[in-house]
Amino acid sequence: MRIVIAALLALPLLAVAQPFPKGNPAIGKKLAMAADCAKCHSQRVGGDGSRMYTRPERKVKNPGQLLAQVRACNTMLNTGWFPEDEENVAAYLNRDYYKFK
Ligand code: HEC
Repeated sequence: MRIVIAALLALPLLAVAQPFPKGNPAIGKKLAMAADCAKCHSQRVGGDGSRMYTRPERKVKNPGQLLAQVRACNTMLNTGWFPEDEENVAAYLNRDYYKFK
């Protein structure tokens, strides 16, 4: 019985698990800085470019779209990142800007 209760209590924790469990935001931040991701973004939205991620009309609405957009922009830059790196960057953008659960 105790085990059943413990399992039920654990359920909500699973539900709020990170959308990018394998991504490491600290590594992602370094990658994004090194790759100069903000270069084009700041031309578009000004400042340090981070408004690209917070503007009211932003395009990315869920974790899947975030990963897809990181991939698309990354392809333009031709960084040679591995899929794990893209997930690290998605985890970083999510932690600091998007905050999807
Ligand atoms: C060649 C220019 C360019 C580079 C370099 C670039 N981006 Fe972008 N990025 C854009 C443009 C343009 C948009 C806006 C697309 C739109 O509004 O349709 C965008 C949008 C985004 C968005 C979605 C913002 C939203 O609306 O929610 C994310 C996330 C993103 N970029 C991540 C990255 C990452 C990570 C990198 C570095 C690997 C990067 N970008 C490098 C041009 C670039």
